[in-house]
Amino acid sequence: MIANKNFIFLTEVESTNNYANHLVLSKAADEGTVVLAQHQKKGRGQQGNSWESEAGKNLLASFILFPQFLTAANQFYLSKIISLALVDFLKPETENVTVKWPNDIYIQNRKVAGILIENSVKGSFLSSSIIGIGLNLNQLEFVSDAPNPVSLKQITAKNYDVENVAVQIWEHFNIWYGKLQTGHLNEIDTAYFKILFRGNEWALFSKQGECFEAKIIGIGEFGQLILEARNGTISKYMFKEVEFVI
Ligand code: BTN
Repeated sequence: MIANKNFIFLTEVESTNNYANHLVLSKAADEGTVVLAQHQKKGRGQQGNSWESEAGKNLLASFILFPQFLTAANQFYLSKIISLALVDFLKPETENVTVKWPNDIYIQNRKVAGILIENSVKGSFLSSSIIGIGLNLNQLEFVSDAPNPVSLKQITAKNYDVENVAVQIWEHFNIWYGKLQTGHLNEIDTAYFKILFRGNEWALFSKQGECFEAKIIGIGEFGQLILEARNGTISKYMFKEVEFVI
C-alpha cells in the first residue's frame, strides 16, 4: 500500500500521462502522485489514437508509481489491478461491468473507460509506471469515431463528482497494489479472470480478418489471451493479434 496520496489538479494540459512523465523524469514526484485534469488538448489513447473527453465532464487521471519490486515480465499485473480497481468502483453503480481484455472497461457492450499504461524498465525490473485512466462519467454525447463509447451518467442518469470518483478509484487501486506488493498474484489472477468480458462463454473473435468462435480459457503469464476454438485448438494471443467481434 502507498501511505500518501498527492493529487495534482490541472485545468488544462496536453495529456496527464505526458505531465506525469515530466514529473518522473525530473524526479519531482513521489509514489502515489495522481495527476488530474479537467481537459486534455492531446489526450492519448492506445495505439496512437486520441482520447475524447469533454472539458470538466470525465475522469482524466494518471497515477505515478515506482513498482521496483515488479519484474518487467510481470508488468501485465498493473493492467490487471487497475482494471480491478475500476470495476470495484463501477460495480455498485451498475450491472454488467466487465474488462474487455486486455484493459478496456465495458458496461454491457460499450466502453466506459480506457487505460494507457507507460512503464520504464531498468534491468529486468520496472523503475516507474504511469497509469493513465480515462473514465467517462458525465458526458452525454460522443463525437469522435471511437467505437461504442458510453458514460456512467448515460447508464445511471446520475451526476458524478470527478474528484470524489478519483479518490474512490485510488483507494480501490491502493488495496490491489498492496496485494501485488505482497505477492498475492493468484488472488489477482482469479479476480481478473472472473470479470472478463465474454468470459466463460462461446463468443466470436477475429484474427487477420477471419472470424471464429472460441472461449476464453485463461490469461497467459505475460497477459496473453488464451482461447479454445470450437475444434479444441488452444492458442495464445498477444495484444491486437485477436479482436472481439462485437
Ligand atoms: C484507450 O485507448 O483505451 C486508452 C485511453 C487512455 C486515456 C487516458 S485519459 C488520462 C491519460 N492521459 C492520456 O493522454 N491518456 C490517458
